[in-house]
Amino acid sequence: MTNTTQPKKLWGGRFAEATDGLVELFNASVGFDQRLAEQDIRGSLAHVAMLGSVGILDDTEVAQITDGLNNVLADIRAGNFEWRLDREDVHMNVEAALRDRIGPVAGKLHTARSRNDQVAVDFRLFTKEAALDLADKTRALRAVMLAEAEKHLADEVILPGYTHLQVAQPILLSHWFMAYVAMLERDEGRFRDAAERMDESPLGSSALAGTPWPIDRHSVAAALGFARPTANSLDGVGSRDFALEFLSACAILSAHLSRLSEELILYSTFEFGFITLPDSHTTGSSIMPQKKNPDVSELARGKAGRVFGNLMGLLTVVKGTPLAYNKDLQEDKEGVFDSYDTLSIVLRLYADMMPKTVWHAEKTKAAAARGYSTATDVADYLARSGVPFREAHEVVGGLVGIASRSGRQLWELTDAELKAAHPLLSAEVAQNLTVEESVKNRASYGGTAPLRVREAIAAARAALE
Ligand code: ARG
Repeated sequence: MTNTTQPKKLWGGRFAEATDGLVELFNASVGFDQRLAEQDIRGSLAHVAMLGSVGILDDTEVAQITDGLNNVLADIRAGNFEWRLDREDVHMNVEAALRDRIGPVAGKLHTARSRNDQVAVDFRLFTKEAALDLADKTRALRAVMLAEAEKHLADEVILPGYTHLQVAQPILLSHWFMAYVAMLERDEGRFRDAAERMDESPLGSSALAGTPWPIDRHSVAAALGFARPTANSLDGVGSRDFALEFLSACAILSAHLSRLSEELILYSTFEFGFITLPDSHTTGSSIMPQKKNPDVSELARGKAGRVFGNLMGLLTVVKGTPLAYNKDLQEDKEGVFDSYDTLSIVLRLYADMMPKTVWHAEKTKAAAARGYSTATDVADYLARSGVPFREAHEVVGGLVGIASRSGRQLWELTDAELKAAHPLLSAEVAQNLTVEESVKNRASYGGTAPLRVREAIAAARAALE
């Protein structure tokens, strides 16, 4: 006896009692996996074409199912499709809609296939596209940051370089931009690597063990744009490391964007005053009229939390599941959608915001000069004259002590004070150690000297083009 209060499920054959309403709600994924409709139908079209080519279905059946699927797809695209909770997920919504339109022949589509390999192929198609799209969007931001580095190299804008958020040594602003270019280049690479590794079609793994039907998995893989079919059916339906890899590339990118955000938030404060963020990408306060808040950066920093969470969430889902498919795996999708959407917008916002951000070169240079940022240069000066570096360090440390206790900078010390600290020192030496000199001297490979930064920019430009 089948239930009479609800329409029969596609899997309803063995069931005598209707599904509990709350179970139906809890079990359904159509609310979110309808986002895979395009991939689902693409997968079905490739599958049915293959069923025809190997003679499992005849030409008329293939044509009917193909037309029907294309009609369903057109309606979904047009927003003319009724997604039904009682049809549980995207796969059964599409298949049931197909049956509504073309009748029982629709039932032949699921020959030699299971929802387990169906969802695995849909989700791989989606995740691969998402990875390549985020790679492109990351590349776009990379290009923007590189253009900023080029722009600020012209005036050799100087920025304080920090360690422990204490002024450490002066650097070029362009060098700072190039650090993010390097991170973004690796971020982009991680997405492309992940896309390449997930470039395998699980379709034809069937429920878990393969199928007795004489299917051609290779042609389906090729039709769907995959490099090859997955080699093991249990792995094909049961593994989600492709999604984990995507989520982990997202998490690392988010960490980088969050560090960038943190710096911009600090640099835009009244206290730092290094940058002015554009009005278009800041917000005001409803009570304090003077406020201009860096909400984009704060949200980008805050959203790293959810992007990390999506990775942790799926790792946790996967860790306890025995091979092969378990319904736990239905939890794999929302985090991927969310990380993809979140980073799509953050990358776009930063690509728009960075070129409109104004850097106050006088402020950054003045800040770079303070905080005894050239102390290492004074020590290096002594060491170049043969004083052991440790001794030079001690001498300059003493001078910084004198200067800071009397509220002066190193170049404000008297000739007598400098000579007393070390006979090789003088007012002239201290005054010559400007931030420009300091930057210019750091000409080791990968260093901040304008010459090196120019080379780094040229290399990055070549890599991008
Ligand atoms: N909605 C399911 C998911 O996302 C599809 C696969 C269901 N498979 C099954 N054996 N119940 O994982």
